[in-house]
Amino acid sequence: MTTTNTKMEEKRGEENHSSNSATFRSKVEKMQGIIHEYSAGGWDKCWEQRVTPWDLGQPTPVVLEILEKKTLPKGRVLIPGCGAGHDVIAIANPERYVVGLDLSENALKRAREKSSSSPNAKYFEFIEADFFTWHPTEKFDLIFDYTFFCAFEPRMRASWGKRMHELLKPDGELITLMWPTDDRDGGPPYKVSVADYDEVLHPWGFKATSITDNELAHVGLRRGCEKLGRWKRYL
Ligand SMILES: C[S@@+](CC[C@H](N)C(=O)[O-])C[C@H]1O[C@@H](n2cnc3c(N)ncnc32)[C@H](O)[C@@H]1O
Repeated sequence: MTTTNTKMEEKRGEENHSSNSATFRSKVEKMQGIIHEYSAGGWDKCWEQRVTPWDLGQPTPVVLEILEKKTLPKGRVLIPGCGAGHDVIAIANPERYVVGLDLSENALKRAREKSSSSPNAKYFEFIEADFFTWHPTEKFDLIFDYTFFCAFEPRMRASWGKRMHELLKPDGELITLMWPTDDRDGGPPYKVSVADYDEVLHPWGFKATSITDNELAHVGLRRGCEKLGRWKRYL
């Protein structure tokens, strides 16, 4: 991907999250309309039509901070619902092999175009599959969930918790960026709370090792309604 394209993508990300909340809300409404109209294929339609108001156009700042502070687990990493793959590319290195999973062909087309000439390309891959039915050959040391838990209907959350248990190694870590924690109706994004995550993770032995406000939610509309959770299993 060229520097010009990267800049354009970052600009689109900024526009997606401009402080002009009316514009942002109308993009979200358009996205919700597509998802409800096309059901399972809705996400791919959104990517195809470039209605992606969630896309920051760059890696998630708090992930870069955790990486810099050297507290991000090493080994095999899974990012479910990776979208355009900004975080996948950002954290892949000789110490971390990252799998970006998404069911949208168009999202992964974008991710692959963006990353084809990345110097770290041998440390990541993109896989097109459904998180709820996918069977990898090996489990993961780290799973990072951002804007994925909130993407599907609350009735799916128990299955999400079970999958986290199945996909993580016994001593693996789950990192969740929990958004949106403000009050709202409908979705996606569906509103979330720390208790919602705990409810579906606790039965599998997960406990939060830390829950903090994400001060780096640089996006105006997300600031104040995003929390960082780190979870491990103690059974
Ligand atoms: C709200 S977007 C978030 C994308 C990315 N995490 C980001 O923050 O930019 C949700 C993503 O999850 C993907 N997705 C939705 N349901 C999925 C499923 N069951 N399995 C895999 N990916 C899924 C969608 O295609 C979409 O790219």
